[in-house]
Amino acid sequence: MDGSVIADKAVRSFDQHKLKLGLFGLNCSGGLSATLVPERWQGTWQENLAIAQMADEAGLDFLLPLGRWKGYGGETDHNGGSLETLTWACGILAATKHIMAFGTVHVPLFNPIVAAKQMVTADQIGGGRFGLNIVCGWNLGEFNMAGVELNAHEARYEQGQEWVDIVTKAWTSDEPFDYAGDHYSVKGALMKPKPVSGDRPLVVSAGNSDRGREFAARNSDMMFTGIRVDQEEISDDIAPLKAQAKSYGREIGIFTNCYVVCRPTRKEAEEYHDYYALEMADHGAVDNLIAGRSARGRFDELPEAMLRNLKQRAGGGNGAYPIVGDADDVANLLIKLNAAGIDAFAMGMANYLEHFPFFRDEVLPRLEAAGVR
Ligand SMILES: Cc1cc2nc3c(=O)[nH]c(=O)nc-3n(C[C@H](O)[C@H](O)[C@H](O)COP(=O)(O)O)c2cc1C
Repeated sequence: MDGSVIADKAVRSFDQHKLKLGLFGLNCSGGLSATLVPERWQGTWQENLAIAQMADEAGLDFLLPLGRWKGYGGETDHNGGSLETLTWACGILAATKHIMAFGTVHVPLFNPIVAAKQMVTADQIGGGRFGLNIVCGWNLGEFNMAGVELNAHEARYEQGQEWVDIVTKAWTSDEPFDYAGDHYSVKGALMKPKPVSGDRPLVVSAGNSDRGREFAARNSDMMFTGIRVDQEEISDDIAPLKAQAKSYGREIGIFTNCYVVCRPTRKEAEEYHDYYALEMADHGAVDNLIAGRSARGRFDELPEAMLRNLKQRAGGGNGAYPIVGDADDVANLLIKLNAAGIDAFAMGMANYLEHFPFFRDEVLPRLEAAGVR
């Protein structure tokens, strides 16, 4: 192999639609839903394959896995079964035609040269359809499984910077290179083949903190971040990130995590949302999700309505943004968020195979009619 595969930029479906859509979390048991309902997502390979092919045929833009090594406990051990994301992406890319598949890669767990080689392999399999989601990590229990310590927040991002520099160099340098950093020492590295695009695959990085945003502005094509403000404030919230990227001579897009409950009527959607994400929530897993994610604590002191929302979002979508309603509600909210500056939506559904067909048949045509897809 000499790395000279012709790049087919058309397969980079990311450039095709103003409003980009994908499915998120399908590689893990439970997906984004910590729930006890019998139809909860199992996340087997056969299910992943089936939904990947269905999403590909429907024209979705991407599939994004959760980077997960250990479950959240509770009755279902939510996310306790997971398919490793780079090997998952290889399988998905081999079995699909147009859709992008991401790897969600924990910086401290993957040597950058090994990861660069694995990712280029995925990219070759997919003819340029691989994307990288960088996560610098947060979950000590997962890191301890691999005998890796969780560095302090700042050090995690410093290591992340070295990691990206090495991976990018491996993907682009035609000459052997050395790299001497605080975290990595690389000698005489030369990688062939190169990514199909001839450049680097699409790079997304996930985080919410200011430091995470700075990292994204410097390195990523898109920042993967939660919607943390009211709809009206989204444009103002992302403006500094866009300006920061510009100051580094770059453009950056916005990618967010959400979950969709779409039913023929708004009432049915709200009832199912309450049913699977509250009444039938895996309460143990929900508590662990909330406690593990945040050092803010003291949730019991929150007003009851806020606590209910927080728990419903954790049960319904691992804390993602809820998009609940009939097909008009769902399409209109997506369009509104897109107009406010969210470019891409990584969606959870309680059961992707059961719930995506309604979204495909009812919401996608509305988005097309609105001219955003
Ligand atoms: C939208 C989003 C998706 C994320 N997905 C994952 C994931 O799949 N696996 C993981 O270990 N961490 C994930 N993270 C957490 C990041 O690894 C990161 O540790 C966390 O956001 C803390 O970084 P920050 O302080 O810069 O926000 C995600 C974060 C965000 C905001």
